Amino acid sequence: MIGKKWGWDRTCPDETSLLGKGRRPERMMLTEYKAKWKSSGLIIATLAVVIFFSNYYKNWKVFGTFRSFIRVDNNKTNVVFNLSGAMISIEPQDVALHGIVNSKLVLEPMEFPEKAIYLLETSGRPLLSAKQLCSVESAARHNPENPIVVLVAAQQLFYPTLATLIRSLHPNVRFRHLDFHEVLSNSALSDLNLTDTLKRSRFITEHASDLLRFAILHQHGGIYMDLDTIVMTRFPNISNGVSTAASNGTYLNGAFLIFQKGHPVLLDCMNDIKSSFDTLNFNGNGPQRITDAMRKWCHTPDLEPNTTCGDVFLFPSDQFSFVDWSLADAAFDEFPENADEYVAALLAANATVLHYYNDRSCSWDVRLRCDADADGGGGGDGDGGDGGGCGGNSAVARMAKIHCPIVTGFSGEWLWGFPDSGPGIL
Ligand SMILES: *[C@@H]1O[C@H](CO)[C@@H](O)[C@H](O)[C@H]1NC(C)=O
Ligand SMILES: *[C@@H]1O[C@H](CO)[C@@H](O)[C@H](O)[C@H]1NC(C)=O
Ligand SMILES: *[C@@H]1O[C@H](CO)[C@@H](O)[C@H](O)[C@H]1NC(C)=O
Ligand SMILES: *[C@@H]1O[C@H](CO)[C@@H](O)[C@H](O)[C@H]1NC(C)=O
Ligand SMILES: *[C@@H]1O[C@H](CO)[C@@H](O)[C@H](O)[C@H]1NC(C)=O
Ligand SMILES: *[C@@H]1O[C@H](CO)[C@@H](O)[C@H](O)[C@H]1NC(C)=O
Ligand SMILES: *[C@@H]1O[C@H](CO)[C@@H](O)[C@H](O)[C@H]1NC(C)=O
Repeated sequence: MIGKKWGWDRTCPDETSLLGKGRRPERMMLTEYKAKWKSSGLIIATLAVVIFFSNYYKNWKVFGTFRSFIRVDNNKTNVVFNLSGAMISIEPQDVALHGIVNSKLVLEPMEFPEKAIYLLETSGRPLLSAKQLCSVESAARHNPENPIVVLVAAQQLFYPTLATLIRSLHPNVRFRHLDFHEVLSNSALSDLNLTDTLKRSRFITEHASDLLRFAILHQHGGIYMDLDTIVMTRFPNISNGVSTAASNGTYLNGAFLIFQKGHPVLLDCMNDIKSSFDTLNFNGNGPQRITDAMRKWCHTPDLEPNTTCGDVFLFPSDQFSFVDWSLADAAFDEFPENADEYVAALLAANATVLHYYNDRSCSWDVRLRCDADADGGGGGDGDGGDGGGCGGNSAVARMAKIHCPIVTGFSGEWLWGFPDSGPGIL
């Protein structure tokens, strides 16, 4: 399982580097919320839910935009709507003002419920991708008793149709605005000026997330998980735990953390960051810090998965990452034999979370089904019927169809993601 050296330092692979691998769908720059639903049953069912919620949330209407494309431009500063073929490009904050899309979810201020599962959106975008929403939906499905709290820097989410559908069926989900500067200023990292610190970083989005997850769990306790995951089973009921990255547990990865409020390991991570924020290394402020802190806590450099040191459990690597990061692309492999093997291993391990390492795989949208499949009766609400072999084979596609059916039902042919990590929350 252990492929390359741990400690990578990279950004999302260049699209051109993916060409010629023979299994990668061409990048869809026009990401779709335009579900290709020609099957009327599903449309009617969904419209009923949407109408219900449009009435419930009087502030916005999702209706008119139902069939429009949406995409975020390369520079991520503007939102482009394809309304009846006319491409309209506007600043996100103007979208509502111009009345072009009266469709936004105004986020309520933060609260910190007990036993919360936190997901952090630190790319600075006022939108969540279908891939990200799949994490949210799957976490909610398998953990109905935990509040799922998605924290967003923006005050509102644009084009929230899908987010709202998820909420309607999973009342444990909350999308909330959080002032990330304020969070840090109330933590052990209060000496750091978040803006100034992140300005120096090569990985603004990721480093913000690293700092904030430690601060939030230390202040409030709870569970943190990354947004590039698919949750497949209920989370374990333990008080403190960290996911391991390599199969021998030498390194931890921080993509999944459970901690009680005020845990010393988190404080140690923050103190360590405070004294030497790492501007250059992708892993420098997250995985490296939690690994260092746990080595101290366990009094050993060899952290062993599936053991507990002190009061912190080290999850077996299969449970919360499933694969070594260097094999992230295998989860997107469409080739049937490879995909079958991957899925079999995933099920055999009874993995809790499939973590597909978005930093490695963000160039790839996931083909869920063929156009032809979407036309078929039933409207593509499940995971059957990909016998034609033209899509939906990859492990990510199969798991998404099972564990986030609202998102995959809505997304049509593609489960799309953002092709880069965004401008960050500066
Ligand atoms: C970013 O988007 C704006 C609005 O469409 C455009 O005017 C500008 O040229 C774009 N910048 C880059 C670097 O592409
Ligand atoms: C915009 O949508 C129309 C259909 O409504 C489609 O024909 C056209 O190709 C789309 N434009 C782009 C750039 O995708
Ligand atoms: C952080 O620094 C920026 C300028 O770089 C400044 O505008 C801001 O007020 C500072 N924040 C705090 C809390 O000092
Ligand atoms: C979780 O564990 C705690 C203490 O071990 C126990 O009191 C609680 O009932 C458990 N919750 C569930 C849902 O099993
Ligand atoms: C664990 O893996 C790392 C990295 O592959 C290696 O350097 C180390 O020796 C391994 N440790 C054990 C105990 O196998
Ligand atoms: C973890 O340890 C338990 C016993 O404590 C064992 O039953 C289980 O198979 C182990 N899991 C893994 C993935 O090694
Ligand atoms: C798989 O894991 C879940 C929770 O993590 C557990 O409830 C279930 O019993 C496990 N199934 C098997 C076959 O081990």
